[in-house]
Amino acid sequence: MTDKSKVVKELFENTELYLTYDYNLQIRKETVEAFTEGKSFNHILDIPSGTGAMSIPLLDRTDRLSLLDISSNMIAIAKKNIPEKYLDKTEAVNADFFELDLPKNSYDLIICLGLLAHVNSPEQLINKIAGLIKPGGLLIIQNTDSSHFYSYLIRFYLGAKNLIRKQSYKLNNVSAKFIDGKLRENSLELLKSYRYNQSFLGFSNLFSNEKKYQLTSNFFGNAKQPKNQSFGSDYTYLFRKKQ
Ligand SMILES: C[S@@+](CC[C@H](N)C(=O)[O-])C[C@H]1O[C@@H](n2cnc3c(N)ncnc32)[C@H](O)[C@@H]1O
Repeated sequence: MTDKSKVVKELFENTELYLTYDYNLQIRKETVEAFTEGKSFNHILDIPSGTGAMSIPLLDRTDRLSLLDISSNMIAIAKKNIPEKYLDKTEAVNADFFELDLPKNSYDLIICLGLLAHVNSPEQLINKIAGLIKPGGLLIIQNTDSSHFYSYLIRFYLGAKNLIRKQSYKLNNVSAKFIDGKLRENSLELLKSYRYNQSFLGFSNLFSNEKKYQLTSNFFGNAKQPKNQSFGSDYTYLFRKKQ
């Protein structure tokens, strides 16, 4: 395991820290639902699965689901969340994605939400994932566009906060242009995207999760009926691998 993976693992072993932002999890779950509406699958890979909140609801539309996360506590929660009637077709693996030798061209849906910001090499991640998708298969991948004006505001805010309280953990800066280019190089074509903003900057503590969800959906709509998309720095994309 690389030093970066060790740090990320330690960070996400504290599941509470991440799961308190549940308005964001709700938006991600609805986006996955909207992007997969009416489709069924042979084998879905959810990497990183976290608690399985985005892929477990798809269990009645897939023959198999593989959940994978480096955090043992996230995987423990995911295991508890699998309905008993679906245990036979679900595997929950606690491992570093980069250390696993997974079968190439074999998943017809890969869900990758919240990982690009935390890996050693975003390029290595995209290349590895692209190789695992079946021709004609789908990829739902999330990234916060580092070149969007709202990302500059977030970095400015975090930079100022850092002057007061030093935080050593840094997220990767990955631009929308990079994602578009790398996925295209890997024969993936963009079908759809949905954008919103994940951060309320310094105002986060003023609002409950319900309020943040409501404000976000009022302004940005949802994946089925998006609005004001150019203001959103956080992209969830739906790509398809060419045949
Ligand atoms: C921001 S959370 C996203 C979880 C889930 N996809 C979601 O949208 O709620 C990031 C997750 O990535 C996992 N993770 C980070 N690096 C990983 C790696 N190399 N292999 C597997 N999981 C990893 C962390 O443990 C954490 O659960």
